[in-house]
Amino acid sequence: MADSKLSFLALLVLLSIILLLFLKLIVRPHPIKIPIKSRRVLITGGSTGIGLALARQAVAEGAHVTILARNLEKLQEAKTSIRLSTGIDVDIVSVDVCDFEGVKNAIESVGVIDVLVCNQGVFVAHELENQDIEMVKRMINVNLIGSFNVVKAALPGMKNRSDRKPASIAFMSSQAGQVGIYGYTSYSASKFGLRGLAEALQHEVITDDIHVSVIFPPETYTHSLTKERERRPQLTNIISTTSCAMKADEVAIKALNGIKSGCFLVHCNFKGFLLSIVTVGCSPQRSYLMAFVEVISMGLVRIIALCFLWTWYDCIEKHSAHKK
Ligand SMILES: NC(=O)c1ccc[n+]([C@@H]2O[C@H](COP(=O)([O-])OP(=O)(O)OC[C@H]3O[C@@H](n4cnc5c(N)ncnc54)[C@H](OP(=O)(O)O)[C@@H]3O)[C@@H](O)[C@H]2O)c1
Repeated sequence: MADSKLSFLALLVLLSIILLLFLKLIVRPHPIKIPIKSRRVLITGGSTGIGLALARQAVAEGAHVTILARNLEKLQEAKTSIRLSTGIDVDIVSVDVCDFEGVKNAIESVGVIDVLVCNQGVFVAHELENQDIEMVKRMINVNLIGSFNVVKAALPGMKNRSDRKPASIAFMSSQAGQVGIYGYTSYSASKFGLRGLAEALQHEVITDDIHVSVIFPPETYTHSLTKERERRPQLTNIISTTSCAMKADEVAIKALNGIKSGCFLVHCNFKGFLLSIVTVGCSPQRSYLMAFVEVISMGLVRIIALCFLWTWYDCIEKHSAHKK
């Protein structure tokens, strides 16, 4: 009995080693490190919240940072707050990401970008039935089309950068860009869209040594979230709070580390890690160790996901019965 247990264990170890070696051989793209120090980083939506925290973190790590948003006053405030905490100035650019010509001019004025973070975003939760169609369009326009505009305007310069060091394009998605959540039809659609944009874009820019990341923060304490929690449907509040909210500074550190290591899917907490595994699909993976974890844990993580779905649908049914 003891002998058969031992040989079973030995077989398991052997199979794991073979799988690891196989994954080491096939995972693509290859591992990469993206330097930040002394490089030009452009962060859209960098005047408040997560974008501001990210800008401060990048400045602290020696990057030359430009932040882009619409409101000039908020940009000035952000610049002052970064100067006060780091002693370093950032550049500011005021433009609406929905205006392609404006974005092109703004990006020309920034010069060659080494690391681009499309972080701008709006979120207003409502059941689709009750949401104004103009608000649906606004979320798609700012979150998704705005990111197309910024990337399209920045890409020619990024491809022709003279330092030839690896560059990065990152998109700020959300956990609502990995899983649909009650009340977030438009927001989730815009954030799921970023994932498709990012996967296809990675194919197109890999030979230019440009590496794409998609960041999936959970709820993050920012002014926008506070406002959002007050007005959104009760069910959205119940379902969204199954993931603990993080501080903007914590998300910024996770995001920047993910970008620097060229991670395609960047999660920010443990639930995000599980979501990344269960939704990994055909996403690029540079780490054979992470690929190993994905392969062996996929089934188990699917069971955990089904448990979450069970509690969410249970809440929805109870809420509906209560209302009736
Ligand atoms: N907070 C969360 O719970 C959470 C969770 C997951 C993901 N996210 C995502 O993280 C990103 C930042 O969220 P946040 O909470 O930090 O939001 P925030 O504080 O409201 O910041 C949004 C930023 O985007 C800019 N912006 C909005 N519309 C724009 C436009 N049309 N053109 C240019 N800039 C525009 C805003 O400046 P102006 O208004 O001056 O333009 C601001 O700088 C968003 O993409 C959001 O979807 C947030």
